Amino acid sequence: MGIERVGIVGGGQMGAGIAEVCAKAGVDVIVHEINDDLADAAEARVLKSLNRALEKGKLDDAAHDDAVRLMRFESDIFLMADRQLVIEAIVEDERIKTELFDRLDRIVTAEDAILASNTSSIPLTRIGRATRRPGSVVGMHFFNPATVMPLVEIVHSVATTEETAARAAEFASDVLGKVVVHTKDRAGFIVNLLLCPYIFEAIRMYESGFASKEDIDAAMVNGAGYPMGPLTLADLIGNDVMLAVANSLHEEYGEPRYAAPPLLKRMVEAGMLGRKTGKGFYDYE
Ligand code: CAA
Repeated sequence: MGIERVGIVGGGQMGAGIAEVCAKAGVDVIVHEINDDLADAAEARVLKSLNRALEKGKLDDAAHDDAVRLMRFESDIFLMADRQLVIEAIVEDERIKTELFDRLDRIVTAEDAILASNTSSIPLTRIGRATRRPGSVVGMHFFNPATVMPLVEIVHSVATTEETAARAAEFASDVLGKVVVHTKDRAGFIVNLLLCPYIFEAIRMYESGFASKEDIDAAMVNGAGYPMGPLTLADLIGNDVMLAVANSLHEEYGEPRYAAPPLLKRMVEAGMLGRKTGKGFYDYE
């Protein structure tokens, strides 16, 4: 059965972006947030992005109105009951995620429903075992900004069935138009295992006074052809997400190169999470 009704849990930077991608692809989407204020904020975030696309001529009036019509922003999690695919995009905290999957397992009743996580750092196997249907739990890892980056990593836990992974992959590629790659449930998956140590090294380079942040970023943009420098990218991804990835890579592989640089820890403790809080390696006020 094709996936026509999607639920997104979490309407932050990633959840809002994924919801927008789904609605633009003609899919009915309910975004769940934990209270009405956060649901309203998620709605405002998506509407602002859709309006920008309209102004830039990337969407015509009809496509804009269709996307708006297909989305609802709700604080009632029981509305997830009839969703054929639920994508979780909440905070990177294992306890909070496993509690959510335990709830979703009891709430989502649609036949063959898939429970997916956008986690970048928590093993899917641990998320899946919080449910009575670990075979239907899969990783769908989108990249920031989700509306722009073409990739989705489909993460197979040791329990994910081939059918679940194939249906999630088919939805991401055929319905959302994303490029799909498959990866096993190892910390970092493909992209973060390669990308994050490079960003950590850039943070250490800056922290040690080896070069200025502007020069580190300019060097990688102009000397290596990256679209943005590593410190600008850390601010885009979110320094809290970077820290969660560092901790999970270090826990999994035990190698010093994956350990979070002290500066990254201090910045997260100070709330300097990057663009989303207005301050990170750079200021965004
Ligand atoms: N949110 C949403 N959309 C954004 C955006 C943002 N923060 N920043 C830019 N965009 C959109 C723009 O609206 C524009 O869209 P249209 O083409 O539809 O008009 C498009 O991106 C290009 O924007 P610009 O021309 O202004 O800027 P750019 O050419 O410099 O591109 C970029 C911006 C796409 C972000 C580019 O710099 C880039 O690709 N950066 C690297 C991003 C990256 O590596 N992401 C992966 C991070 S890893 C991750 O997410 C996984 C994880 O688990 C940690």
